[in-house]
Parts: sequence; structure tokens; C-alpha cells
Amino acid sequence: MCGIVAYTGFRQARPILLEGIKRLEYRGYDSAGIAVLNGGGLHVRKNAGRISVLESAISNEELLGTCGMAHTRWATHGQPNDENAHPHLDASGRIALVHNGIIENYQALRTYLKQQGIECRSDTDTEVLVQLVGHFYKGDIEAAVRAALSDVRGTYGIAVICSEEPGKIIAAKKGSPLIIGVGDGEYIVASDAAAIIQHTAQVIYLSDGEMASVWDDGFKTMTLDAAPVTKEVEELGLTLEDIELGGHAHFMLKEIMEQPDATANCMRGRVDLMEGRIVLGGLAELARELVQTKRFIITACGTAWHAGLLGEYLFEDLAHIPTEVEYASEFRYRNPIIEQGTVVIAVSQSGETTDTQAALREARDKGAIALGVVNVVGSTIARETDAGIYLHVGPEIGVASTKAYLGQVLVLTMMALYIGRRRHLSQPALQDHLTALASLPDKIAAITRQSDDIRRVAEEFKDAENWLYLGRGYNYPTALEGALKLKEISYIHAEGMPAAEMKHGPIALITEDMPVVFIATKNSQYEKVISNIQEVLARKGRVIAVATEGDTEIANLAEHVFYVPDLPEPLQPLITIVPLQLLAYHAAVLRGCDVDKPRNLAKSVTVE
Ligand code: AGP
Repeated sequence: MCGIVAYTGFRQARPILLEGIKRLEYRGYDSAGIAVLNGGGLHVRKNAGRISVLESAISNEELLGTCGMAHTRWATHGQPNDENAHPHLDASGRIALVHNGIIENYQALRTYLKQQGIECRSDTDTEVLVQLVGHFYKGDIEAAVRAALSDVRGTYGIAVICSEEPGKIIAAKKGSPLIIGVGDGEYIVASDAAAIIQHTAQVIYLSDGEMASVWDDGFKTMTLDAAPVTKEVEELGLTLEDIELGGHAHFMLKEIMEQPDATANCMRGRVDLMEGRIVLGGLAELARELVQTKRFIITACGTAWHAGLLGEYLFEDLAHIPTEVEYASEFRYRNPIIEQGTVVIAVSQSGETTDTQAALREARDKGAIALGVVNVVGSTIARETDAGIYLHVGPEIGVASTKAYLGQVLVLTMMALYIGRRRHLSQPALQDHLTALASLPDKIAAITRQSDDIRRVAEEFKDAENWLYLGRGYNYPTALEGALKLKEISYIHAEGMPAAEMKHGPIALITEDMPVVFIATKNSQYEKVISNIQEVLARKGRVIAVATEGDTEIANLAEHVFYVPDLPEPLQPLITIVPLQLLAYHAAVLRGCDVDKPRNLAKSVTVE
């Protein structure tokens, strides 16, 4: 979603701001803008399209000034055009604002402003906020922002600058991420650590309902009601290398290839093979409650929901605790029943997804214990849970989630084993799973080495516009995730479903033009999946299979087989997804798609 970068300090702001928003390109955007403040006032330039268009537009301008802001917009209210791009100015032209989030009561505020003689120029919800700030401005920008926010309903991460108070940035947050990078004589306010890391590793995380006033040699933090808040300056667990391509053509490919290391890091200190146990420090204090819990509810969106579905299978299978996975966007509005002893687990890469945050709050308000399975350290969801487990897979920049998905599945697997062993899982059974988990990074690496073979298959099928992905049991969530990967980056229509469901309708779609991807590893439902493959072949469908190494039968049925090493059934999802990630990646590249910035998508969905 929208990206925010604001700078105040002793250096020229322009290059820092442009570099900053480029680091946020991966979040998804359709227009970009910049405002720089100098003795002559505010200079704003903005346009629809890529940051490169903005750079060309200002290439002959100096835009000097040591304080400013920049923004990448992902349109919600109003077309992605020049006027709707941020920064927005108030009617006097003295105040500029950038915003991430949604002002829900913007129509009412627009009417109010009109009654006051203030006309909005854009179609955005954001502009009413800056006009409101301008309306309340009486020489104190902090007070004006506070007054405006008290009239606003919705979500926001904002930065505001004012030509009457040069060098000062006002930042405020509610429901959208905002971080302040603390340098030596300079500060960067940003919606994402990626825009900060090049300059400083010292940060302050603003919480919802907090504001900051930042100037070149100091800052203060407070609530929206002006009560002072003391914030700790924390260390960013991120390096520049983590967010650069490192020789790969795309972040998505880099992140797929990183999965052996990512899973090793995720398991480090947690899979204790010698002692035969799972160590989850983040859950230690709640271990008794978790073992005795009556029900788990896992809530998430998109890919994280697919990981959550696997969580449901794992928790019921390994820990024997009733578990449901819920789309966060549905859960939050349907007045769910939360019995005493229910544990809700929010799964989120970014830790900022609005629907997941809201679902978590709904569950907490109803008395649930709230756990987080999150990748981004210090993110909102991570901070709003009672306990949690970080993925530790490193930053994920590609919009299509790959290594974070694997991290989510891995953490949920470790949780299921951790709780399962405290209930009914025997030590030898646990030990078998631990041994298998220890081999996971090497097994994933072996699959990534098949990338060229997988590309050849993608080449053959890349023009097919409809695909099916089928699996049973633990392979069903993998079918859903494989299909999502393909559709979000290649724009091919793909559906995942339980293999047995095919005959209840979708079988009507099967023709000789339809690629059908079966996840058909050796497991308890293998024979049944083979029957489903036969059903597809009988209708001349073209079968691609993910199968277990050494399976000779499947090669006689499928046109192409991607072999994966064997693992105990509950752990198979940790490897079966890898060839499907590569298949989607190669298909998208071969179709000329912008893999890391797919159309209409945002990395972190911070609107409803
Ligand atoms: C993943 O490939 C998707 N782009 C998307 O479904 C994503 O998983 C979803 O928006 C949830 O994001 P989160 O994990 O950051 O909460």
C-alpha cells in the first residue's frame, strides 16, 4: 500500500526521499510525489505512474531543502492521476501531508469544509485531512494536526510539514505503520524500515494513537490527546543486503532461493535435536494455557490464510486440539463466538494487514488469548498480541509471498509439535519429526536446483489461461497456495481445490487445453489422488504432478513430474510448495509480467 518517507536534518532531502520511496516500490503503487521545504516555501511535484516518471519530471529542477516528504500512492479513493497523488496541500499552500490508510468519514468532512468555503481539488479521502489541518492552523502545526485527527474516523499513518515551521515533521499513526529512524542530527519518518536502513539502524516504533513531533535535532512523542509518551529507541534487525537483489533477477526468485537459509534461521534454537524437543521461548509463559486450550482459531488473509489452513490440519492431527482457520475480513464482522480458553493466532508476514489486525482485536476484546505468527519485528500485530513467534526468515520484498509462507507453515508446525508433545505425541514420534525438520533446508535446496527444468515446463504451458491445482489432505492447502502464486504474478486464472471436489463440478472445465497440477506425494491418500489423476486423463486434461522421489508409477500418468524428497506426511507442505513457487515465477517471467510489482497488488494491505 502507500509508502511514506519524510526527512528532516542537515542534508538535502530530495535524494534521500527519492531513494526512500524507491525502496518502498515493492509495496505496490500507482503514483508518486515529493514536497521539499525551503526558504521560498513548499515545492510539490507529483504524478501518476512510476517513480522514474517523477524523476524525469523534476530532472531539471533543483528542489533544494533539508526537510521534505515523498509518497507512493496505491489508489483507493479516486483514479491514479496527478491531482490525486500525494503530497496534498491545504488551501493556503503552507501545509503538505502524505497519508497511508483510509479516512472513512471523508464525505462528511468534505461537506463541512465546503460550508467553511474550502473546496477540495482532488477526489481523495486524504485531501480533506490536510484541508482540515489548514483550517485549524493558528501558528502551531502540532495542535492543528491533533485537532484535525480528532474529527477523523478511519486509519492513518501521516506525515505533515508546514512552511511556517520549517524543519518540523508531525507524524501520527492509527492502523497504518509508521517508524521514525533516528540519525545523528537527522530523522526519517517512514512507513517501512526499508526506507530507513540505509541511513540508520536506530528506530522508534509509533503505536496506534500516538503522534510525534520531529525536528533536525530532537523529537517528542505523545498520544493524540497530547499526553507525553516515552518511547525507546530500538535496533532494526535488518541490513541493506537483506533488501537488495544480490545478483538475482527478481526479489521473488531471490526469496525462493533463500528458503534453505530462511527455514534454517526459523528453526535455529527452536528445533533441539540433541535434547529431543521444540523450544519456543515466545510461548514459554503461556505453555500451560496452550496445552489446556479448548480451541484454536487461526485468522489471516491470502497466503497467510493458506498457512493457517495447514495450521488447522497440523493442530488437529499432531496436538488433537479443535482448530478453525478464519478469513480475518469475515471473522471481524460476524460476531464470532469466543469461548473461555480459546486461543486466537494471527498469522501475518507484514504484521500490518488491516483485516488481520481488526480480527485480532475483536478476538481479544472477547477474551481470547492472542498469539502472533509474524515476520516483521515490531509490527502492529506483533505488538498487540499476548505472545508470539517471529518467523525470522528475513525481509520479504517480492509481493508474492514465498519464504514468509514457508516460515509461517514451519512455525505452525513447530507449535503443533510443541503442544502435541505436551498432550499425547510420543517422544519417538516427536524425535522422528525433529530429525526430518533438521533435513529440511537441504531438501529445499535440492528442489531449487530443479529451477531450469521447471522453467522448461512453464515455457510449454505459459499460454494456457486456466489451470487447476488439486491435492488431498495436507496437499490441499498447497494446491490453494500454488494456484494463488500463479494467478497473482502471471495473471493466469488458476483455482486450487481438494482433488475429490473436482468431480462435483469443476471437472466440466477439463479439456486438452487445461493444465491440471496434482500434488501427489506418497501419503495416506496417494491411491485416491491417483484415481483423480485418472479421471482427468480420461477427459484429456494435461497433468503436471508434484511427487515423491522414487515414485515410478506417477511418471506413467503425468506429462511432467517435479520430484520432492520424502518427509513425514505433516511436514510435506514444507517442500511441495517450492516447485509450485518456481513454476509460477517462471510462467510470469516468460509472459513478460512484472513479477515483483504485479498489477493492482500491494505487499501489505493496510486498507479494508
Ligand atoms: C501473498 O502472495 C499475497 N500477496 C497476499 O495474499 C498476502 O499473503 C496477504 O495480503 C496477507 O499479508 P500478510 O501476511 O502481510 O498479513
